Amino acid sequence: MAAKKAAPSGRAPEGAATPAKARPAQARPAQARADEEPGILHAEAALSEDERDSALRPHTLQDFVGQAAIKENLAVYIEAARSRGDSLDHVFLTGPPGLGKTTLAQIVARELGVDFRQTSAPVLEKPKDLAGILTNLSARSVFFIDEIHRLKPAIEEMLYIAMEDYEMDWIVGQGPAARTLRIPIQPFTLVGATTRAGSVAAPLISRFGIPFRLSLYEAADMEAIIRRSAALLNVRVEGDAASLLARCARGTPRVANRLLRRMIDFAQVLGSGPVTVETAQEGLRRLEIDCMGLERLDRDILRMIIERYAGGPVGAETLAISIGESVDTLEDYYEPYLIQAGFLQRSPRGRMVTDLAYRHLNLERSRAAAEGLFG
Ligand SMILES: Nc1ncnc2c1ncn2[C@@H]1O[C@H](COP(=O)(O)OP(=O)(O)O)[C@@H](O)[C@H]1O
Ligand SMILES: [Mg+2]
Repeated sequence: MAAKKAAPSGRAPEGAATPAKARPAQARPAQARADEEPGILHAEAALSEDERDSALRPHTLQDFVGQAAIKENLAVYIEAARSRGDSLDHVFLTGPPGLGKTTLAQIVARELGVDFRQTSAPVLEKPKDLAGILTNLSARSVFFIDEIHRLKPAIEEMLYIAMEDYEMDWIVGQGPAARTLRIPIQPFTLVGATTRAGSVAAPLISRFGIPFRLSLYEAADMEAIIRRSAALLNVRVEGDAASLLARCARGTPRVANRLLRRMIDFAQVLGSGPVTVETAQEGLRRLEIDCMGLERLDRDILRMIIERYAGGPVGAETLAISIGESVDTLEDYYEPYLIQAGFLQRSPRGRMVTDLAYRHLNLERSRAAAEGLFG
């Protein structure tokens, strides 16, 4: 859809296509690199790269690929609020990392034609941090709080009143002379985002009028995202290469963009420029991403459950320790895809692998041996 857009000025296409950071790694053998950077496509592994990815961020609802139901409803709510001259009701976005929560929040502001302010719950230390932002909001603006499950109680209380009444309680003076002032603030739209809806207090959730849950993207949408990003980066990606990468990006646009950048590196250094099926296959092999889109740590997780816990069930904490990752990373990044792809099940007693996991690991082991992969 947005494929016609040129690369933004100030960014040479070839510079954009080859992040300097990735260059030194090219010279090293793939194995060494993988050892140093386990989970290379990991959510937090390349924040700086994500920031530079602002060039790839869709700016309008129309440019935002997939999530059709969310887009349709959001368009209606935005149109209605605009025509009434009201602020949009508060929006609550949940879903695994990298699915477009921050992007959507920015789009909402842009489509409403209002200011956008952004913060993250862990950054809000004291009530005055939040007060400073709230009192400076312009009318009907969008205020985005990321990781909203991590708000401190005192700040959450303050937010309740702000969301409901567009007012703020402020204590002036000390001791017996202290009194509470109610300070009016401009009507605004809070957009709260979290990867863990289960950790958000019910009273907070209930104050959001518009809740959306983003789910992992389907293959066709993933392919559209890869094509869109390739066009923005001015790189040619062969049709079958785009669909191959789309299937290996765990239904996550952020992973797709990161994977695409790595493939562009491989294509540039090992090939002739465009990303072909051969470069994509070779690149995936080097990144240890298999035919089902599993990364090495995905396979480690499955193998660990099979070999050490007889297929499960095993609790998340135990599993996280076994693989040397945090529970958050396990639950937010690895599990959603393993579950959606049918390798893993969650039960009240813990995680269990499916038959598919057994088949996949066996198959892969024999294939790996036959083709000399991963060794
Ligand atoms: N629907 C989409 N269409 C195209 N690109 C997307 C889409 N959703 C996310 N992206 C891309 O993926 C990256 C990660 O999205 P982001 O909004 O930061 O995810 P989240 O906040 O949910 O972790 C962005 O840089 C953006 O370019
Ligand atoms: Mg985000």
